[in-house]
Amino acid sequence: MKSLAYFDNIEDLDSESKYLAHKAKEATAHAYAPYSKFCVGAALILEDGTIISGSNQENAAYPLCMCAERVALYAANAKQPEKKIMKLAVVAHKKNHKDLTPATCCGSCRQVLVEFESRQNKPIELIMFGPDKKWIKAPSAASILPLSFSKDSLDV
Ligand code: THU
Repeated sequence: MKSLAYFDNIEDLDSESKYLAHKAKEATAHAYAPYSKFCVGAALILEDGTIISGSNQENAAYPLCMCAERVALYAANAKQPEKKIMKLAVVAHKKNHKDLTPATCCGSCRQVLVEFESRQNKPIELIMFGPDKKWIKAPSAASILPLSFSKDSLDV
């Protein structure tokens, strides 16, 4: 199984990953994060090169907040369900801060990503800006969520 790759500098990423990280950063501008003041952006690329982005959308009823990754994933499947998702980048910054702050995909988003991978029968590569300000490339969501729950457990 492929493992995680770490990069000190965004310039060390391949050009597609770099572009996607840039689009994710752009997407943070549309975050609605008045409560956490933590602006997250995600951008994914479909098999035909289409890029779809999302940002976190919060609500005064806190549990209703939606992560940037899932906003992008659900938008992709709502619009172009027949196209596979190849790669997703996610970045975050604190409100009124220009520099990115380390933030990796939360467990809920990993679980949702794993189901997308299973539905499309293809891994989704992930690009994240992680601890120690290193860029991380994961070969799939499943690689960062071992023993995830799946429909195999349901008798359906
Ligand atoms: N958030 C994301 O958008 N993605 C993640 O993977 C982790 C957290 C958002 C949710 C909430 O609006 C804010 O960041 C603080 O948790």
